Amino acid sequence: MKIRLFFLTLLFFCSAIIRADELSLIPLPQSVERGNGSFVFDKKVRVNVAEYAGDSLFAVIDDFAEELRVATGIVLKRTKSSSAVVRVLIDDSLANEAYRLHVDKMGITINVACPAGLFYALQTLKQLLPRNVVAGVPDENVEEWSIPAVTIADEPRFAWRGFMLDEGRHFYGKDEVKKIIDIMAAYKMNRFHWHLTEDQGWRVEIKKYPRLTEVGAWRDSRVLGWGDTKPDGILYGGFYTQEDIKEVVAYARKRFVEIVPEIDIPGHSQAAVASYPGILACDMNVWHEVWKWQGISADVINVADPNAVRFAKDVIDELIEMFPFGYIHLGGDECPTAKWERNEECRSLLAEIGSKNFRDLQINFYKELKEHIAAKPATEQRKLIFWNEVLYGNIEPLGKDITVMAWVGADRAAENAAKQGLYTILSPQIPYYINRRQSPLPTEPRSQGQGTETVEAVYNYVPMNGIAEDLQKYYLGVQANFWSEWVVDASTVQYLILPRLAAVAEAGWTHQHLRDYSDFVRRIQADALFYRLKGVNYGKHIFEGDSGMNF
Ligand code: ACM
Repeated sequence: MKIRLFFLTLLFFCSAIIRADELSLIPLPQSVERGNGSFVFDKKVRVNVAEYAGDSLFAVIDDFAEELRVATGIVLKRTKSSSAVVRVLIDDSLANEAYRLHVDKMGITINVACPAGLFYALQTLKQLLPRNVVAGVPDENVEEWSIPAVTIADEPRFAWRGFMLDEGRHFYGKDEVKKIIDIMAAYKMNRFHWHLTEDQGWRVEIKKYPRLTEVGAWRDSRVLGWGDTKPDGILYGGFYTQEDIKEVVAYARKRFVEIVPEIDIPGHSQAAVASYPGILACDMNVWHEVWKWQGISADVINVADPNAVRFAKDVIDELIEMFPFGYIHLGGDECPTAKWERNEECRSLLAEIGSKNFRDLQINFYKELKEHIAAKPATEQRKLIFWNEVLYGNIEPLGKDITVMAWVGADRAAENAAKQGLYTILSPQIPYYINRRQSPLPTEPRSQGQGTETVEAVYNYVPMNGIAEDLQKYYLGVQANFWSEWVVDASTVQYLILPRLAAVAEAGWTHQHLRDYSDFVRRIQADALFYRLKGVNYGKHIFEGDSGMNF
């Protein structure tokens, strides 16, 4: 018995040593080599930062220094002295988002080519410290701030590591969006796709069309009707002013997250049609209201009306002003053509463009919008993204410089796009719609789609699986989507996206041959503390000591 106890005790200590020795980095870097010992922070630390494009590296370090001060009390100050214990050096041979991080007893050296690389090196550095630093809050329990000796060489597999939030169905507000951006940045995700319009709500102020938010941002039901669930008659809504958008844009930029605004047109547009039926509706003899139901509304924009085309161009103009990033998403999913088929203007436009496929009216609409953007000065150019239904029409008029976001039959759709020489992003409904249940437990919150996508299923999706080498250059990356039909509150959004967002982040960042689910489960354990200290809800299923029932 004593011998058994001895061995059990030995095993416990060994495993404690091994576990303490393991790192909990997510996403897993491409290469990690452990050194001996660790670097221990003094209360005051000097950092020497190479000069680069004005003060852009300085700005990244200064933001980090402020976060470090708040979380640890350590004061990190820039110095021109090259004997500083923390050094940031330029290495032009690295890619924009790549970094090298070397930590030993004497100090920390970071090599980067660009500010994005430095930002990602610092995210890794934060994960090497206690998790309260990632959460950005103090932790009285930590006695010593130290980082294990390590050499990391890292860069992302994919340029696009995205997350989409649908605020058309339910509106959560900028504080919740900022929390999500924080979590994305911690996991080195870099595209926040903001689904801002839907049949059930228009969420962004457009100065030229005030009724979009006076009318289109409000509906007579908080819940959305479906089956036995009926609209509840409660006035519900909200929207972002252009000032709000400016604030969120500045917040995201500091975290190297590009925002991709989506205006889903001409389908999923009933809220816009209800706001301006005179210029957008296919038929004036029926009542148009912001939708209170789930599903796919037939009340689409009349793409043959020049006023509707003007409307879309004007909206795009204001979007370009609000969002100083590379892409605008124009939606394009699930757009019924029934109203166009019954509309005289639409039928004659279809004949004019020489097609019998009503889907081509949608393509023609996009072509006009694309030409409108192409005529703008260089600083106002934006690339366009569409959901993969755009491939159901003749897309030749749209040229090759569009990006197809593949969701339905995603692998095949993405390959189809790539074969046509179009860029593509993988956001497969199964398993990357992380609004779906994450376990079969009856305690799971109701969410759009009947399916269950466990953390493991999400993790084990293999992007670009078996794709011919010459097509791989068209695959920009991966994206998780959150559709909010059933989700009225931000806490449930958090519960559903975490920790599955981390699994998608790792697919976007880490090369496939390094990815391993059981290792991910080991590493993610540390993030329960990150989530708790950050004050966000999360799915408990894979966390030791937590129960899946604990919603
Ligand atoms: C989509 O899920 N309708 C893009």
